Amino acid sequence: MEIGKINAAKAALDYVKDGMCIGLGSGSTVKEFISLLGEKVKKGLKISCVASSFDSRMLAIENGLFVTETDAIDEIDLAVDGADTVTKTALLKGGGGALTREKIIGYNAKKFIIIVDESKVMNGNVLEGEVNLEVLPFAASMVMGTLKKFKPKIRMAKAKLGPVISDNGSFIVDCRMKLENPNPHEAEVWLNSIPGVIENGIFTKFDMIIVGNEKGHRIL
Ligand code: A5P
Repeated sequence: MEIGKINAAKAALDYVKDGMCIGLGSGSTVKEFISLLGEKVKKGLKISCVASSFDSRMLAIENGLFVTETDAIDEIDLAVDGADTVTKTALLKGGGGALTREKIIGYNAKKFIIIVDESKVMNGNVLEGEVNLEVLPFAASMVMGTLKKFKPKIRMAKAKLGPVISDNGSFIVDCRMKLENPNPHEAEVWLNSIPGVIENGIFTKFDMIIVGNEKGHRIL
């Protein structure tokens, strides 16, 4: 599995060019990408980065990347991010709780590339799994009431008492959903129409999915 992540990250590196502003997603696959980017920067590549989480920001700085803020750049040339579950047309993200900033960075980039290993790829076009939402704490019980049939749960922290608090100071609510509708974009838009939902982990706007495996990679 690790080699799949590394090979997907290596393939994404081909799209990075001198002078670009790179949007960094979050998670263990992006961690491989950040480490490879760091090696290229040490060899002279000149780029700037914006990060979708405190985690990626810290990793990027550790790897010698120049990290700036979204309000200090004109545009993001390329964003690279992982995903929890993928089909050709939609992704589920948010396993790391960074979905809101990930979507802001990915959807605002000129090119948005997803990097995953084979374990993330679903057969067919039905997206099934955990749909993660970022929710304003004030609205959490009402949002969960609206989504009752999807068995929503506030994500609890492992090394702290109480809920996970996102990088934006909100709760993460996890639901079980099977998106059989051929247009997952409708579910993405519907979830965001519920008052108090800040963002949801259904992603339908991206340019390419690179799937890494033991031998190399393929484009989904
Ligand atoms: C973070 O909130 C997620 O969206 C990650 O991008 C996703 O969970 C993929 O992470 P891994 O690369 O660690 O599987």
